[in-house]
Amino acid sequence: MTRTQGIPNQPVAFDDMQGLIRFGHGALVEAAFILCRIRDPKAAGAWLETAPVTSAETLPAPPDMALQVAFTAAGLRAMGLGADVLAYFAQPFLFGMTGEDSRSRRLGDTGTNAPENWDWDEAEAHVLILLYARKGGLAAWQDKILTPTFHAAFTPMHTFPTRPNDGFEPFGFRDGISEPKIDWQDARPPAKHGREDFSNLISPGEVVLGYRNEYDERADLSEADLRRNGSYLVMRQLAQDVPGLWTYLDKEADGDSARREELAAQMVGRRRDGTPLIQGRRDVAGSPRKNDFTYDDDVDGLRCPLGAHIRRANPRTGDQPHRGQGRLGWLLSTLGFRRRRDELPGRHDLVASTRFHRLVRRGRAYGSALTPEAALRPDAAKDARGLFFICLCADLVRQFEFVQNAWIAAPTFNGLTGEADPLLGNRQPFCGVASDGFTIQTPTGTGDRFAPLPQFVTVKGGGYFFLPGLSALRIIARHARQEV
Ligand code: HEM
Repeated sequence: MTRTQGIPNQPVAFDDMQGLIRFGHGALVEAAFILCRIRDPKAAGAWLETAPVTSAETLPAPPDMALQVAFTAAGLRAMGLGADVLAYFAQPFLFGMTGEDSRSRRLGDTGTNAPENWDWDEAEAHVLILLYARKGGLAAWQDKILTPTFHAAFTPMHTFPTRPNDGFEPFGFRDGISEPKIDWQDARPPAKHGREDFSNLISPGEVVLGYRNEYDERADLSEADLRRNGSYLVMRQLAQDVPGLWTYLDKEADGDSARREELAAQMVGRRRDGTPLIQGRRDVAGSPRKNDFTYDDDVDGLRCPLGAHIRRANPRTGDQPHRGQGRLGWLLSTLGFRRRRDELPGRHDLVASTRFHRLVRRGRAYGSALTPEAALRPDAAKDARGLFFICLCADLVRQFEFVQNAWIAAPTFNGLTGEADPLLGNRQPFCGVASDGFTIQTPTGTGDRFAPLPQFVTVKGGGYFFLPGLSALRIIARHARQEV
């Protein structure tokens, strides 16, 4: 890593980066993901060389379909890349999401979430094909891509259909509202991204490899480096028990629908239409409406519970309890000599500055839609439904694994005890500490406590992938053709 010390980077090479990173393809409402093994590396190389992989370049007219290609570490090996090349990739990618027990424990993949109960993982897989199209266009796009040439090269192991993107996740909440805004032109040095104040801006190097990151550092990657203009892609299949969630909430609310909605909103931190429990009070750089808020004025969680899903997933200023105290105050507090009056014990212990832990989310829902009202009927369809959670980042440990472990799964997050994320928690003790509760803080200080909470989300599969830049894809293709 080289210190960039505020010197601006080159703006990102959009023509060499896969479009998913920049665009998210939300307007291409239909999507399917295909997990494959490489059957014949030479044929795979030939297919990849001419595959119409979508770049992040802006075109005169937005595309009607998109193709993105990601590899597992085993996939890169199967394409003939040697240990010398693979050694440059991140350890979690090389080991895989399920490769080590300690990783599974840290991610909360224990109990019913343990990999041995999953329907799939990346261990046997090589390539993830992501297909996107406008309404009605996916079947034709699939036929165009999955040709006999494709099948000569790859064996599909799992095809994951998704449900047309309507902006809502299966529990019924608007999703995809809060996204970090990437400073693509790298116009603002990271020091101006919110060292003193929360902003939604992050440096390109937090998502794409080879650019300046929030530490003001850049990995200098040569043109031949396969990591250049690439990103790590995390995929987890998260099954959602929609009737389970709404039945539980309805019971706790004694059948009062307004109270039920209120409880649901407290668990998420937003109402179903996306309205945050904390109303925007000020401009937050890079944030659209409904997202220009911080937790500065709600340190006790009286408006948005301290353990609500969005507060865990991105604590914004929940991690800066010493703001406004000056350097001496900060030092005294950090050394444990002083605590702010409005600070709960342990608030700042776990949480580092949020801008180092942002995720670019690109997930899609699957299964049929079920409204909360329909979910409450005794005959509610118990079909499989959930989220293909997908996120992109430059550092698997510092970004995805940190968020999943220290914020979502940790029972002591934000000074709380005995609770994990109310939506995602597996309710198993986490490192020996109970995690099956949820507290809504109240002015009296005791809070409304819900425990034991049932499990609403179960992990069904997952893997770590790498989404290479377009030149890197061509290098991989040529490599496979020459090597075999
Ligand atoms: C079935 C599983 C999940 C459901 C139903 C869910 C639902 C939601 C909803 C409704 C929002 C609010 C909308 C928005 O701000 O975009 C949200 C935000 C978010 N979620 Fe999740 N989520 C799930 C899994 C995850 C996982 C596994 C992670 C990370 C490891 C995650 C990270 C985030 C982040 C970072 C935000 C934005 C928070 C903010 O910036 O305020 N989510 N999620």
